[in-house]
Amino acid sequence: MSDNKVILNYDGKAFEYPIIESTIGDRGIDISKLRDQTGLITLDLGYKNTGATISDITYLDGDNGELYYRGYPIEQIAEKSNFTEVIYLLLNGSLPTSDQFAGFEKGIKKYNFVADEMKRLIDVFPRSAHPMGVLSSLTSALTAFNPKAVDVTSKEDMDHAAEMLIAKFSHLCAWTYRKKMGLSINHGDDSLNYVENFYKMCFRRPNQEFHLDPVVVGALDKLLILHADHEQNCSTSTVRMVGSAHTGLFASVSAGISALWGPLHGGANQAVIEMLEMIEKDGGNVAKYVEKAKNKDDNFRLMGFGHRVYKNFDPRATIIKKAADDILNSLGIEDKALDIARQLERVALEDEYFVSRKLYPNVDFYSGIIYRALGIPTEMFTVMFALGRLPGWISQWKEMRLHNDPIGRPRQVYQGAQKRDYVEMNQR
Ligand code: CMC
Repeated sequence: MSDNKVILNYDGKAFEYPIIESTIGDRGIDISKLRDQTGLITLDLGYKNTGATISDITYLDGDNGELYYRGYPIEQIAEKSNFTEVIYLLLNGSLPTSDQFAGFEKGIKKYNFVADEMKRLIDVFPRSAHPMGVLSSLTSALTAFNPKAVDVTSKEDMDHAAEMLIAKFSHLCAWTYRKKMGLSINHGDDSLNYVENFYKMCFRRPNQEFHLDPVVVGALDKLLILHADHEQNCSTSTVRMVGSAHTGLFASVSAGISALWGPLHGGANQAVIEMLEMIEKDGGNVAKYVEKAKNKDDNFRLMGFGHRVYKNFDPRATIIKKAADDILNSLGIEDKALDIARQLERVALEDEYFVSRKLYPNVDFYSGIIYRALGIPTEMFTVMFALGRLPGWISQWKEMRLHNDPIGRPRQVYQGAQKRDYVEMNQR
């Protein structure tokens, strides 16, 4: 290897592959000619070493626990910014001026409603339906009501489709909550900002005067910011992959929602609370569950622990842990689950199994405790994650389309049967 290329010796020949530079972090070997030149492909299960794209949206350094949105460290963004500004930043690449911010908010508010027919759709789901399944279906169905947002090719049309989805998606998330709670559907209120509007759509009761609780709105804002983007994670890669076939934005995001649902990804926030409740019911024996997680014959894993990229700490978990303490204190809530979570963290972080594998609490470990304190039911937690991740999905989808990334189509190493002749059923 020289500084800017890698040499592969194979079959008596030397092949050179250029190194693609980064501004920070991993540099990549460009192997786009590998198969043509050598007849070989790479095999990288779970894409642990594979860069799927060149991006300038989000950077994360797993060894040092750093996360930047468009270059701004997550700690500064979480402390000083608000969710709407973060959406603008991710979508456009820079922080907005006050005029740009006002214009952006106005653009979103233009679509602060959802077609009445969509309400009929949500009515037909059983109340027991998992909100993530409902959300994915409704997001895909939005396409039918907004056909102009399907086939967008110019940057202007993409931004327009983005405004539409950002506005309407908050309704769909609030509606899945109301459905779960057996409450009638609320509509948007243009006098409020994005997060306040979402909060009101979720929590307004027909029999009570509504008032915004600044502690709750502030907590929601922070949680949404912390989930807003995380480079090429499973759901974002799904959105990019689906979108690479030039599938529309809404349908691509609907696929991302399904990917996020899984317990190894966003569904972990629900799984964490269920795990903490189970440990509590079982007498709070934390050490027993740490042992179970270490046992290779037991399928149990410590949910909310470990991360594909962070191998030191997850900076979002650090912020969320502190926020959980603050919010529970200011709402005057005591939650046994928080005690169990703290004990679990303490025991695991001193255990050789977790230390040697660099397994630390991730963003999902403490987020559920905050959602629970805000009165959000467990099955809704991943919907909250989806609302937070929406700007990331849209920004990555837009970048992929504007960069003209080719359709995603991996290869495989085939180990199945060789060619063989069909055998009639009566002769098998
Ligand atoms: N509990 C017990 N052991 C674990 C855990 C855990 N939570 N996570 C990883 N390990 C072990 C794993 O068994 C393996 O051990 P060994 O080397 O002996 O075979 C080693 O650590 C490496 O794990 P891996 O599964 O190869 O790592 P990965 O990068 O493929 O998976 C992960 C990352 C997040 C899927 C995994 O750590 C996990 O399943 N964690 C629990 C689910 C979770 O909290 N997911 C949320 C992730 S963060 C937010 C998001 O992405 O949405």
